[in-house]
Amino acid sequence: MNEKRQKVEVATRELVLSNDQLERVSALLLQEFNEGLKRETNPIASVKMFPTFVRDVPNGTEAGKFLALDLGGTNFRVLLIELEGADFKMDNQIFSVPQHVMLGSGEQLFDHIADCLADFMHKRGLKDVKLPLGFTFSFPCRQEGLTRARLVQWTKGFACKGVEGHDVVELLRASIRKRQDVEIDVMAVVNDTTGTLMSCAHKNSECRVGVIVGTGTNACYMEEADNAELFEEDEFAHEPRQVIVNTEWGAFGDNGVLDFVRTDWDDEVNTYSLNKGRQLFEKMISGMYMGEMVRSIVADLTRKALLLDGKGSEKLFTPHCFQSAYVSWIESDAKGELAQTRKAMAEMDLSHADDDDLFSIQMICERISTRAAHLVSAAVATVLNKMRREKTVVGVDGSVYRYHPHFHDLMAKKIAELTRPEYRFELMLSEDGSGRGAALVAAVAVRQIRELRAKGLID
Ligand code: GLC
Repeated sequence: MNEKRQKVEVATRELVLSNDQLERVSALLLQEFNEGLKRETNPIASVKMFPTFVRDVPNGTEAGKFLALDLGGTNFRVLLIELEGADFKMDNQIFSVPQHVMLGSGEQLFDHIADCLADFMHKRGLKDVKLPLGFTFSFPCRQEGLTRARLVQWTKGFACKGVEGHDVVELLRASIRKRQDVEIDVMAVVNDTTGTLMSCAHKNSECRVGVIVGTGTNACYMEEADNAELFEEDEFAHEPRQVIVNTEWGAFGDNGVLDFVRTDWDDEVNTYSLNKGRQLFEKMISGMYMGEMVRSIVADLTRKALLLDGKGSEKLFTPHCFQSAYVSWIESDAKGELAQTRKAMAEMDLSHADDDDLFSIQMICERISTRAAHLVSAAVATVLNKMRREKTVVGVDGSVYRYHPHFHDLMAKKIAELTRPEYRFELMLSEDGSGRGAALVAAVAVRQIRELRAKGLID
């Protein structure tokens, strides 16, 4: 490595986290988990550990047609799923959510969702049937029942007015009612992590954890009902007493405990974000912030004349102009090659970058995505060490995990280093997890109601 590249290496060394640092991250996260779980400390906890009302994974006897809605990333999806035990058929359509809707009023957002749903149902001749529906709503919600979820705060790219503090199922029903052309029966509202866990559990009954590394990052896991002090028993109470807990680990660090690993660049990313001061762990990891993180570093080192001969471009100095997809392009260049990196820099109007600059930018991207993978790994290891199971399948989904060329391998290796050797694990890619999982939760609820009716326990 020549002197020029060496300087960039030294300037970005704080992005490389040692196992000691990651173990400290994990120990802190465990403390935060415990604070979130306890009734007394939950109100002041950063990591909220919301109990869901999902207590059962599918048992293979679920059957029928189900609708699912999936809102949470950059797109919105409607799905129609036909279940027959372990088999399923799926049809789905993606709709975009325009930025003015993501930042508009709640009514606009739910009217848009209802429009898309009606369009989907009309096209498939489902106008006059009332199907059970599962709603994946991937934001921090306080669940008050399987079909009641109060949004606590928007995260990621959404900031619609008049939704925080309200039950999102009620808002959805109101928008559908207004149209009067379709009918639905909302059976469940779930987070995407729960959807992922359920859809993996449908294929592998050892799955007990669901992780997302996409636009945002989060995880849920099966907890003993006694440990989840906010959990209140419902009519489906039965043994084993367990419940899925949605950790909302994206908010880890919002109380300052992660400052020992955060950098000035993390501060800058936070400053230009929609939800300043919140979701600090998420901002070090997820796809929504990865490009912006690289941009902050390259811009900073350019200002210090360590890169690009001190000459940037307007795009380089404008927040949010570096797409996270460029990070994947850059890292898909094989060792010693620069084609994709050069292409990404041309998109940023930085064609004057010489080979040293390009290799340095590759190193920066690699350090950012490796740090992200290692931080998620520390968090997954925290869950596995807490669950103390001999063997756990971890369902994983999200664009970063799916499309980044090295993310899976980095995670598998680091989780193994940070988890006690007696607790073995396997990472399982969830196929269409978040949407299909919601339909599965709806299906389990329909089955349970049928069973309770058959026993004469409910009307
Ligand atoms: C954000 C949301 C969380 C979701 C995650 C992944 O962290 O707050 O609910 O699970 O993104 O989509």
